[in-house]
Amino acid sequence: MNPATTEVDVLIIGGGASGLMCAGLCGQKGLRTTVLDSANKVGKKILMSGGGRCNFTNYYVEPDNYICENPHFVKSALSRYTQWDFISLVEKHGIAYHERKHGELFCNDSAKDILRMLIDECPPQKVDIRTKCIIDTVERAHNESQTAYYVHTNQGKFKTRQLVIASGGLSIPTMGASSFGYKIAEQFDHHVHPTRAGLVPFTFSDKTKGITERLSGLAHESILFNERRAFKENILFTHRGLSGPAALQLSNYWLPSEPIKVDLFPDLDIEEQLFHAKANTPKSLLRNILSKHLAKGLVLELEILFWAEYSEKPIGEFTDKTIVNCANHLKAWALKPSGTEGYRTAEVTLGGVDTNEVSSKSMESKKHAGLYFIGEVLDVTGHLGGFNFQWAWASAFAASEAIH
Ligand code: FDA
Repeated sequence: MNPATTEVDVLIIGGGASGLMCAGLCGQKGLRTTVLDSANKVGKKILMSGGGRCNFTNYYVEPDNYICENPHFVKSALSRYTQWDFISLVEKHGIAYHERKHGELFCNDSAKDILRMLIDECPPQKVDIRTKCIIDTVERAHNESQTAYYVHTNQGKFKTRQLVIASGGLSIPTMGASSFGYKIAEQFDHHVHPTRAGLVPFTFSDKTKGITERLSGLAHESILFNERRAFKENILFTHRGLSGPAALQLSNYWLPSEPIKVDLFPDLDIEEQLFHAKANTPKSLLRNILSKHLAKGLVLELEILFWAEYSEKPIGEFTDKTIVNCANHLKAWALKPSGTEGYRTAEVTLGGVDTNEVSSKSMESKKHAGLYFIGEVLDVTGHLGGFNFQWAWASAFAASEAIH
């Protein structure tokens, strides 16, 4: 037990992407900074990100890559700390990286390089990083001259003028994710938008379940879409449902009980191809025509679903209407997810602290001076592709500029 109070200029709760970034920048300004994290080590999600190689940013960051009730909120922070700023930092630390598709940047070697860089950016004489720190209560005290926050923990009591909540979202509870940030926001009269899992595979309970199980491991480039968004990427059938980048991306725009649709021929006018086959190779079977473009197993599943009665009929005997129907199924195969895999495997949490009550310039609460929210705890969710980390870096930078 340590009854003494540790007083610091900045107290950051959460030593993940945004918390460590903010700690380094505050420490470099000469501010006495302490990071408190409940996990046994900091930056766990960084280490597991990008399959261990950390997709740390993207060449093409735009506000449209983010989901937020107020779509303008992200603009200021993203423009003041850009992907190029983070790339410069990565280069300064000699970390080798490469671009994959769509401008996604990954470490050549390991996500450990990014975590090491963030820690190395924290001047040790100014920044104290504490793990296994369990926070009991947070209080605010105010007199005419000053506001102070008191944080009671299993490692003693901390006093600070500036409290930064960087405790992230709810995804992957086994990695230390908690609802702490939302609870603190509510304690300080902030509205929190309902949360749900994002960038997460879909699950099924109808006949699609058997299909995804039987096709498990098969990836196919498609357009996965609903009324709000379309993503042209791979879908991946798994024994649990539908994954792959297109499914993860669309999950951010999916609401329970809504259908989703798959265009299996994103670059081909399949209707035209089928009419062409009817005219030129009338003896061919539909499954043989489709097998030139789709995996055989997938074709057989589609055959059972959509044209079982025509399976042994040559295409020359198909009516035009049947051809159009088949093409429609292939261009807009409707699936009805029963849900998603949830926070257990989600990469992010949608919803969170309402951005209307937080300054878009500084991330400071509009209700309580000295209280900041950064990173994923806010109602800001990026697309797949390094956008979530870029938000963590940019929001941390915005807060650090305001903190003094
Ligand atoms: P982050 O989750 O990084 O950190 C929060 C910290 O707060 C944690 O260290 C946690 O232990 C701590 N904490 C929680 N509750 C606490 C409490 N009560 N008391 C004290 N500390 C507490 N993004 C991307 O751009 N590119 C990618 O490649 C990936 N890949 C990826 C893979 C996987 C498997 C996941 C789960 C997520 C990703 N992401 C990603 C998303 C990315 O990891 C995420 O958006 C950022 O880490 C969010 O940064 P934060 O700092 O907000 O939270």
